[in-house]
Amino acid sequence: MQQQIRAGLLQTFEGEILLADLLHAYPNAQIEDSSMLDRVAQIIEQASFINTDTATRKPDNLALGTRVMALGKELSQQQRLVAGYRKLLRELRMEIDRLADNSAAPHPLGQWLDEAEATLAADGDIIDQPLINETFLRVMTAQATVIPSGHEFFVEGADSILEAGLRGGLALNYGCSNGNCGLCKMRVVSGDTRKIRHHDYALTEAEKGLGYILGCSHTAVSDVVLEADEAQGSADIPKQTIPLRLKRIERPSADVLIVSTRTPRTNRLRFLAGQRATLSVDQVGSALYPIASCPCDDMNLQFHIALNPGDAVAKYLAEAASSNDTLMLEGPNGSFVLDENSPRALVFIAEGIGFASIKGLIEHAMALDTAEQIYLFWITDDDAPPYLNNLCRSWNDALDNFAYRPLPASALQNLADHLDTQLQPAAASGLDFYICARESLREQCEQYAERQAIPARQLLFETI
Ligand code: FES
Repeated sequence: MQQQIRAGLLQTFEGEILLADLLHAYPNAQIEDSSMLDRVAQIIEQASFINTDTATRKPDNLALGTRVMALGKELSQQQRLVAGYRKLLRELRMEIDRLADNSAAPHPLGQWLDEAEATLAADGDIIDQPLINETFLRVMTAQATVIPSGHEFFVEGADSILEAGLRGGLALNYGCSNGNCGLCKMRVVSGDTRKIRHHDYALTEAEKGLGYILGCSHTAVSDVVLEADEAQGSADIPKQTIPLRLKRIERPSADVLIVSTRTPRTNRLRFLAGQRATLSVDQVGSALYPIASCPCDDMNLQFHIALNPGDAVAKYLAEAASSNDTLMLEGPNGSFVLDENSPRALVFIAEGIGFASIKGLIEHAMALDTAEQIYLFWITDDDAPPYLNNLCRSWNDALDNFAYRPLPASALQNLADHLDTQLQPAAASGLDFYICARESLREQCEQYAERQAIPARQLLFETI
């Protein structure tokens, strides 16, 4: 169908095709058969690591009213300013006319003023679409800025500040997500917030007086500045034990399982992208697996599991498990995490199943949206494409700052040559490298870093 669209044989308007045109091109298409639509919905759900449920993102009336009121105030200030400039122009015109009173020729300043006013009038007819979009965004969302980090995120609809912050890639401090523990306490420095759910944790009168709120139980009504704790590294993340419900098991290749799970709503996993967790199955065993999803969705956790002989949990998941089974999770573990404050471009290198940790890091980097450029190199063991090749290609196609290159197994012999070719003209010393591969690749990566004068803190290596 895409070939027909590109060739102009099928017309589209804003990405949509008329049903009549579609049936003309594909007379045998079964429109009532929704299996393809179901499949598309499933692909969208899997491709989007952030909950796309827009129904919950509409701002409520109070938030809308407050934001419209703020915009109204701004508009009235601007109108007063414009009225003042108009008056000034009228007076200037009168002054110029008075100067030119005794002269037959028009005053040059008067001519200049005529031209300037004509240009302004013409500019006034231009519709400034980016400004319209920005204004609409300001009505639909509130911007939150966290101090002292300076991190920013948008609060959509009636999302809690905590949910919105996590979705924005921040590692905010929290525990229960439901108003019991008080760990998400933060101070509102400026702006308005509103309580959206009851919380059992009681703030003291002194805390309330200082502007403290619980991020999991409040939303932002206007743009806000918040003083909040954020995890600085894996040492700040507590160990947790959480029951997981098995949602789905897929087998994208002969030796890999993708296991999608869900935590209870009131007992989510706080973790950093790139970390691992131990999964246990009663009377089967337990094993440590990389979390292949983003902390911005702390309820829906994904694991990529290699079907290694001797891994009893993997064998159980491949052969005996069914959806709604319960697994126990303990963790998270590991310090293969993103340097959130780095301004450098990011280079991710995965070997085989090493993509699991890399996927979490990439999704986290996308949520943060601060990296100017992201490179992904995925080395596979055989000639078949990587097991989530289409996902990586969709990132490559959808994001201007994302470059994906699958590499054959032979690249393991001369990875440095591939990097030299692909990363130019970027200077490697100005990049952050995250590599998840077999131990045998470590020495080659370290030699590359030495040759390119890449500081040790800019190259993180995790063994599969
Ligand atoms: S996370 Fe526990 S009270 Fe907010």
